[in-house]
Amino acid sequence: MTPPPVTVTITGAGGQIGYALLFRIAAGDMLGDRDVRLRLLEIPQGMRAAEGAALELQDCAFPRLVDVEVTDDPGTAFDGCNVAMLVGARPRGPGMERADLLAANAGIFGPQGAAIAAGAAADVRVVAVGNPANTNALIAASAARGIPPERFTALTRLDHNRAVGQLAETLAVRPGVIEGVIIWGNHSATQFPDVAHATVDGVPAVDVLADRLGGPDAARAWLDDVFVPRVARRGAEIIEVRGSSSVASAAGAAIDHVRDDVLGTRGHRTSAAVVSRGEYGVPEGLVCSFPVVSDGTGYRVVEGLSLDDRSRARLDASVAELVAEREAVAALGIL
Ligand code: NAD
Ligand code: LMR
Repeated sequence: MTPPPVTVTITGAGGQIGYALLFRIAAGDMLGDRDVRLRLLEIPQGMRAAEGAALELQDCAFPRLVDVEVTDDPGTAFDGCNVAMLVGARPRGPGMERADLLAANAGIFGPQGAAIAAGAAADVRVVAVGNPANTNALIAASAARGIPPERFTALTRLDHNRAVGQLAETLAVRPGVIEGVIIWGNHSATQFPDVAHATVDGVPAVDVLADRLGGPDAARAWLDDVFVPRVARRGAEIIEVRGSSSVASAAGAAIDHVRDDVLGTRGHRTSAAVVSRGEYGVPEGLVCSFPVVSDGTGYRVVEGLSLDDRSRARLDASVAELVAEREAVAALGIL
């Protein structure tokens, strides 16, 4: 029997990332051979752009695209939704403090979490892409009464892919031979991209780096002075070079994130921000990036990996930022 279509809701569908996501999802890049229904949620100002994208989707005649609905009503958008990709967010405007940004986004992600709880399918999985992604996922999860918090995740796969890309370029290898990179913490400049458990064609990445760069000290210096800051600040670098924030790479990472969540990682480790249950000493309830695997039933943190003192301090610094974001949101009476 043919399985029922998967209903995918994309918020901010009329925006840049939305436009880069829709056609790949409809083409089957995210859910393989499953039929798909798309629900495009926008605010009134974004409706025409989303409606235009819907017309183009129709013109592509994707064999597995069952239908497309464009709406500015969250209740309609999340009704029966199996996968929710929360992309639409309030960007930081001139003179806006961090607390203002958190409050503005809480006004978006709180009601969307409530709408998901009211109408989504029992198996719904949610990923927050819009920034600040980790805390937006936390806000949506806490507003979604009755839905297990572990269904809510945030996107750090872009950071993971960036880390793999930097290693691949430096070692002159294909990205596909690199395994086991980890992004710890927040999707922000405090994140810690970690290669201590990574391998290149099965060989420890730190050994390959030492070979290639002229010894362990040179490898360590490259990791500290080039790799970590470059990955952590890559979003800012893209904004500086392109003139606007990452789009196709962000959409590609969001597709990788959902595909691996719902279809499984087949034993490979990746990175995703998930609700902490206290793993690696991260306070419970924070949405923090960890090494994860999925068997198709949702991401699970891979426990037991060693962290040396310097790595531990870097993870702690990023977690401190997540705690501060949670406190700022709580102080607004939102959580
Ligand atoms: P964009 O401004 O092009 O599009 C955002 C869209 O969201 C707009 O069309 C807007 O009308 C819509 N929107 C705003 N509020 C909404 C609401 N309440 N409901 C539904 N739609 C709403 O921005 P973009 O380039 O597509 O980026 C979207 C977000 O993704 C930004 O917050 C950006 O910082 C973030 N981002 C995250 C990552 C990541 O790795 N986590 C990477 C890149 C960008
Ligand atoms: C990115 O990592 O590219 C974005 O999150 C940057 C941004 O601020 O939009």
